Amino acid sequence: PISGMDLILTEVKGQVALMTLNRPKELNALNRQLLEDLSETLSRLKEDSKLRVLIITGAGDRAFVAGADIGEMADMDRNQAEMFARFGNRVMNQIHYFPLPVIAAVNGFALGGGFELALACDLRLASDKASFAFPETGLGITPGFGGTQRLARQTGPMTAFDLIMTGRRIKAQEAKDLGLVLDVIPADLLLDRAWDLASSIAQKAPVAIREAKRAIRDGLDLTLTEGLTLEEVAFGCCFETQDQKK
Ligand code: COA
Repeated sequence: PISGMDLILTEVKGQVALMTLNRPKELNALNRQLLEDLSETLSRLKEDSKLRVLIITGAGDRAFVAGADIGEMADMDRNQAEMFARFGNRVMNQIHYFPLPVIAAVNGFALGGGFELALACDLRLASDKASFAFPETGLGITPGFGGTQRLARQTGPMTAFDLIMTGRRIKAQEAKDLGLVLDVIPADLLLDRAWDLASSIAQKAPVAIREAKRAIRDGLDLTLTEGLTLEEVAFGCCFETQDQKK
């Protein structure tokens, strides 16, 4: 069954939810309404105790997300722009810190805010038609939804300097070579592979998965010593579950 708001379609199969960003005529560009609906959908899915994994993709066969909505940003002043970036970062953080694993199924253009949205996900699969770029510096702006921070953390700073400073567009295979995507899949098989990956994770112990994600995610914000303490707590927590006792 497919439900949801017009701009975000949600389909739940078993313990996996697929969210489709649905503005295909505008290549799923992130306008304010779409970001608000995305935020609301994430909050709702977070409360669904049956779910184990979330997949995010874009509607249509051309784009994952072609960026933040350029028209909406055009007339912003400094303060409005800063607030818009803060709002976008809050939504990206809902994905980044979502208590379940989040898989991006990148089915086409992942540009600017679309690349950033994919980077906020834990695992990225790309179709062989996908491409990635940060066109922002060519538009007189910087990435504003986490790109400067998450790209540098994912690839190391040099690739972030390269992609953000040149704006060059890379294909799925180069994204894989740079460690940005887990695998490149023929376009017509992308969603099947995403469901398969999601199901294989959904079969694992849910508390262990949740705690592992939390330890990896939160650990990246900490020193090694602090991170290891976090891991000890996560490890201990699993020993109160049936999955560990069986
Ligand atoms: N914001 C708002 N609208 C966008 C958009 C964006 N980021 N990206 C695409 N669109 C819209 C186009 O305006 C067009 O709308 P229209 O049919 O009403 O004119 C529609 O999506 C289709 O895009 P179009 O440019 O006609 O397709 P194309 O195949 O010629 O080019 C792209 C595809 C992705 C190369 C091109 O749309 C593009 O460069 N988009 C902007 C990407 C970008 O800079 N994103 C970062 C923003 S910070």
